[in-house]
Amino acid sequence: MNELYPKHVAIIMDGNGRWAKSRGLPRIRGHHAGAEAVRRLLKGAAKFGIQWITLYAFSVENWKRPAAEVNGLMSLLTGFLSANRKTLCDNKIRLRIMGRRSDLPDAVNRLLQSVEKETARFDGPQLILCLSYGGREELVHATRQIAAEVQAGTRSPDQITEKTIAEHLYLPDVPDPDLIIRTSGEERLSNFLLWQCAYAEFVFLPEPWPDFDENSLKRALDLFASRNRRFGGIVDRHGSSIVSAPDAP
Ligand code: IPE
Ligand code: IPE
Ligand code: MG
Repeated sequence: MNELYPKHVAIIMDGNGRWAKSRGLPRIRGHHAGAEAVRRLLKGAAKFGIQWITLYAFSVENWKRPAAEVNGLMSLLTGFLSANRKTLCDNKIRLRIMGRRSDLPDAVNRLLQSVEKETARFDGPQLILCLSYGGREELVHATRQIAAEVQAGTRSPDQITEKTIAEHLYLPDVPDPDLIIRTSGEERLSNFLLWQCAYAEFVFLPEPWPDFDENSLKRALDLFASRNRRFGGIVDRHGSSIVSAPDAP
C-alpha cells in the first residue's frame, strides 16, 4: 500500500452509453457493463487501501433521460445491491447514500435503507453512492436548514462559517475527496461535489467507464501520488506537512 495514495476517491463514471453505442448495443447494456466495472473497482479499492469511494451513479439532471433508461438504471441499481449485499458485508464495507432520496422509487429507497442499516456497524471502508445527486441541490438543502435555524433563533447570521455549511451537507462526517476521476474523456464536473472539490486533484481518463479496470485505477492513483498539493501554501505533499510562509498574515 502506497502512503501517497488518496484516502477518498470520487468517480464520475461516464461513458456507458458511448461504450454500448460503439458496439451496436442498447445504452442499458453499457450501464450493465458499468455495474461490472463497479464490482472490479471495489476489489481494487480494498487492495489500495482507499477508505472512501464515492460514485456518481445518477445525477439530478439524469431524470431528464428517457423513462425507459431511467427505469432501467433504477432496476439495475436494485439488482446490483441485492447481488452485492453479501460482498459488502463480507468485506465490511459500509454503504452510504448522498442525494435527494425522496426522488427515488419507494422500492429502491427500501432496499437502500436496509443495506445501509445492515452495514452501518462497519467502521472501515465506505462506499458512497450519489443518487439523484446535484452539488447545487446539496448546497440549497444545506442553506435551507441553516436559514431555518436562523429563523428559529438558534443561530445568528454572523455565526455562519465554512464549518457550518460543511456540517449541513448530506454526509458531514465524510472528509473531502482527495482525488476526482472522470472517465470517457469529458473534462467537467457536471454538478458533482461542488463544495467538497475545493482542493481535490483531478484525473481525466479517456476510457469509458465499462472499460475501467485495476490498471485504470492504478494509473489514476499514481498520477495523484505524483502531484504536489499545496492548499494555497508553499510546500508540501498531500497536506501532510503544510509549511506557512514566514511572512504569512
Ligand atoms: C454514465 O454514462 C452513467 C450515467 C450518467 C447514469 P452515460 O450514460 O452518461 O454515458 P454517455 O456519456 O452517454 O456515453
Ligand atoms: C455525469 O454524467 C453524471 C453521472 C456520471 C452520474 P453525465 O453524462 O450525466 O454528464 P454530462 O451530461 O455529460 O455533463
Ligand atoms: Mg455521460
